[in-house]
Amino acid sequence: MHVIHLTETDSTNRVLLDLASQGAADWTVIRAEAQTAGRGRLQRQWLSPPGAGLYFSVLFRPALDPVALPLITLAAGVAVCEVLERCAGTQPRLKWPNDIHLDRRKVGGILTETSGVGGQPRTAVVVGVGLNVSMPAELLEAELQDRATSLHLHWREPVARELLVTEIVSGLRELVAMQERGEAEEVLRRWRLRDGLLDRWLHWLTPEGQVVHGRGLGLDGSGRYRVEDRQGKVHEVLSGDLTLQQT
Ligand code: BTN
Repeated sequence: MHVIHLTETDSTNRVLLDLASQGAADWTVIRAEAQTAGRGRLQRQWLSPPGAGLYFSVLFRPALDPVALPLITLAAGVAVCEVLERCAGTQPRLKWPNDIHLDRRKVGGILTETSGVGGQPRTAVVVGVGLNVSMPAELLEAELQDRATSLHLHWREPVARELLVTEIVSGLRELVAMQERGEAEEVLRRWRLRDGLLDRWLHWLTPEGQVVHGRGLGLDGSGRYRVEDRQGKVHEVLSGDLTLQQT
């Protein structure tokens, strides 16, 4: 693993996707102290002020069929949770596909982006991880203040950020290798252990802008999330956003 540490950049995902197209080696990691245009899922911004969080991206080109790529995103969520459990003594939960929650508030997120370079047999995958470590609440937008949290409010004792990066990348590497060996079921099993939506009431904002109210039924075998609406119809969620209903 080769970690490049930057003081500031626009987006570590953007930088690493560019490096990938220039042939950067697998398991190159770019970490930044701050991002000026951090990217979130669904075209959202990821707030990345200096000193308040951990912002990094990792590149690899898995020997997997592109249809298996959604499972990589799930594997990244598992890797982050397992490290937060082992190194920080916290009990994170995953909100599909891979928001990381502590005490029902979002502490981190993952954005997976790919770039297929013509003539290259394997797709380059960039997994970007953002974790609020000591984010001052006042920096968050008002609507986020009671939905987001920071790791330092939950950990048993301080954990070095470098350690979190290297442990998460090592964990992800093992999980990807597992998938490459045909053991995706083990990745799903470990994701399901931390499913924060199971049996909870939620709404699904579909990519077409419709809202479906339902109950979380858990992951299917290909990484889609199943939601049962009030009429008993089961929806297979592959994109869009799932939000827990406030109780
Ligand atoms: C989300 O929950 O919407 C995903 C957020 C992912 C943020 C990280 S921070 C490091 C990497 N670089 C980016 O521009 N985004 C990801």
